Amino acid sequence: MKKLFGICLIALAVACGSNEDKSAPSTEVKKETNDLSANPDYQKGLALIGANDCLTCHKVNEASTGPAYADIAAKYAGADDAKIKEVAGKIIAGGSGVWGQVPMTPHPALAEDDAIAMVKYVLLLKKS
Ligand code: HEC
Repeated sequence: MKKLFGICLIALAVACGSNEDKSAPSTEVKKETNDLSANPDYQKGLALIGANDCLTCHKVNEASTGPAYADIAAKYAGADDAKIKEVAGKIIAGGSGVWGQVPMTPHPALAEDDAIAMVKYVLLLKKS
């Protein structure tokens, strides 16, 4: 009985000890990612983009058929509402010429508000 109690104490000490170790560095990293994912524009745009075909042509950090979202974010950094609306219109209408000769397919079923939410999300992806 005494021995069992001893083992329990050791287990408790180990559990507490490792908890302390974990909390300090990991919250730092978490805080940064949470800041972005707590942004309603980020959440809404991410969900919409996930539910559409965007990721077949776009990656976040590297160009594929379409430009990388990080490059789009850099190009339109500080864009005002009018510019965001214009880029959103491009997603709906499709087209080429800004990034190269490869066209983006049109997305006529997309509501303008949803396209705007997607652009706001993309513009948050600028590399720091
Ligand atoms: C068939 C491939 C394809 C799909 C699917 C696609 N894109 Fe694109 N996208 C492109 C290409 C290619 C360009 C570059 C067009 C150009 O050079 O004007 C582009 C450009 C863009 C731009 C920048 C527009 C500009 O004028 O600078 C945004 C923002 C964008 N795409 C978002 C999206 C979103 C959001 C979706 C999903 C609804 C999507 N794309 C789906 C290929 C695609």
